[in-house]
Amino acid sequence: MSIVDTGDLWWKSAVVYCLDVETFLDWNGDGVGDFAGLAHRIDYLAELGVTCLWLMPFYATAGRDDGYDIVDFYAVDSRFGHFGDLVELMRLARSRGLRVIVDLVINHTSDKHPWFTASRSSRESPYRDYYVWRDTPPKKQPKPVFPDQEKSNWELDKKTGQYYQHMFYKAQPDLNVANPAVRDEIAKIMGFWAELGVNGFRVDAVPFLLETAAIIGGDGALPDPHEYLQALRSFLSRRVGDAVLLGEVNLPREDQLLFFGGPDGDELNMQFDFITMQKMYLSLARSDAGPLVEALQSRPVCSHDVQWANFARNHDELTLDKLTDEERAEVFAAFGPEKRMQVYGRGIVRRLPPMLHGDQRRIRMVYSLLFSMPGTPVLFYGEEIGMGENLAREGRMAVRTPMQWNAGRNGGFSNAKKSPLIDAIVDGVFGPDRVNVEDQLRDPDSQLGFIKRLIEHYRASPELGWGTFEVLKQKHPAVLAHTLTWDGGRVVLLHNFADEPVDVHLRVPDGDESTTLSDLFTDETVQLTGAGAVDISLEGYGFRWLRLVSETDVRRY
Ligand code: GLC
Repeated sequence: MSIVDTGDLWWKSAVVYCLDVETFLDWNGDGVGDFAGLAHRIDYLAELGVTCLWLMPFYATAGRDDGYDIVDFYAVDSRFGHFGDLVELMRLARSRGLRVIVDLVINHTSDKHPWFTASRSSRESPYRDYYVWRDTPPKKQPKPVFPDQEKSNWELDKKTGQYYQHMFYKAQPDLNVANPAVRDEIAKIMGFWAELGVNGFRVDAVPFLLETAAIIGGDGALPDPHEYLQALRSFLSRRVGDAVLLGEVNLPREDQLLFFGGPDGDELNMQFDFITMQKMYLSLARSDAGPLVEALQSRPVCSHDVQWANFARNHDELTLDKLTDEERAEVFAAFGPEKRMQVYGRGIVRRLPPMLHGDQRRIRMVYSLLFSMPGTPVLFYGEEIGMGENLAREGRMAVRTPMQWNAGRNGGFSNAKKSPLIDAIVDGVFGPDRVNVEDQLRDPDSQLGFIKRLIEHYRASPELGWGTFEVLKQKHPAVLAHTLTWDGGRVVLLHNFADEPVDVHLRVPDGDESTTLSDLFTDETVQLTGAGAVDISLEGYGFRWLRLVSETDVRRY
């Protein structure tokens, strides 16, 4: 048997954990999370089993978009500590075998960034062309991303009499990537962080960065936007051979393929699968696995080196923009029926457990899916303990509340008497009294214990990240039965989207009377018939992870 060469493609089987330093743990008692706090929780994260941290923006910021409005790409937000604290954190993470990726926000800067201050000072400024200026906004304009806040993507600068482009808030002017000087700046920024030891970037708003005509309207600024993404990727690969570019690309399938670099796979190494995420919620709302199956089967055939990043929730609204109006209405009705739970007419600002009314069976089924759909799972901090949201906070901030460490004062997040973040801590049934790390660490049956086991099994089953995906035929619409095959190993996964228990009859490829299915979560084994047929029972909202093994198989785990 040959040794399979997985190269340096670590992201194919990583477990990514996204967190914001600001809301994780406040070590100096000033009411704001900091690098030292996170450093003190590195062992918690390593023991949880995640393999890669994604740090949300921690750069110097004007604070208008929770850090996504940067005023200095080479400085850290002083509320989080000193640059030295960040370097110490990176060292600690590395010492525990954790990789670190950081947000790369280069579609725009803050309007307080010195480049923009110079750019808007006069039409003759050497920085004028760092941004996108027009005498009049183009007639054809896409809808603003934040329609409740912005009426247009162009803002008049009275002093110089021209409009600048901003696809997000007006306080976030778009950088002009058609300008070679801007491209040099971007390369310098990436090179800087790569040199500091990051293992890659979560690239913010990629289609906007590339300014494709389809996104920004008009002609688009770059003759071939994908050439630029290829250039970014090859630049980074030259600097750090195994660095990853994990891109935020919420576009239809055919465009996603382009952002991977087509069949060559020479652009983004990874993309979040927004379509699968949205269809998963539709499946949940309907108790019908159909929409999710359709989404997974519609993934384009890509280079084997690239990867899908699966997620159940992230730091933004749960966007439902790729569903039809009727489908979106169904998901709103099921999981975010009140106006205050919805934003921008397209998304829900809630976390998963409250959306599922705290039903543990259903919540666990979703996380089981997250870890067993083909791809790399991405967790948002607090998901491992089942945190809820705080709807008293504005818009997307509802899900960005402080981490809940214990049932003590301020949920163990901070010793400070008062701070806006302390006020933001969730209260009620999902608050720290009932949902916190300390209690759950002592209880193997907790959500935390469960997520740990999922991570263990994911890491012990390379089929999940690397395998070839196939949906297995069976007759229950509420059930997703799939298999993943890799390097002679096969796992069979079953998920029941309905409340009623079912017996699923299916045929396992390569199965015969010399093989059994071994349940990864229990000791149970199920014998197959000569034709590989088997009956498997599932509880309401139940799930099973089964490995196909023969008596002599060393892969059994
Ligand atoms: C991305 C981020 C979002 C931010 C936006 C502008 O979509 O996920 O939080 O507001 O980019 O940078």
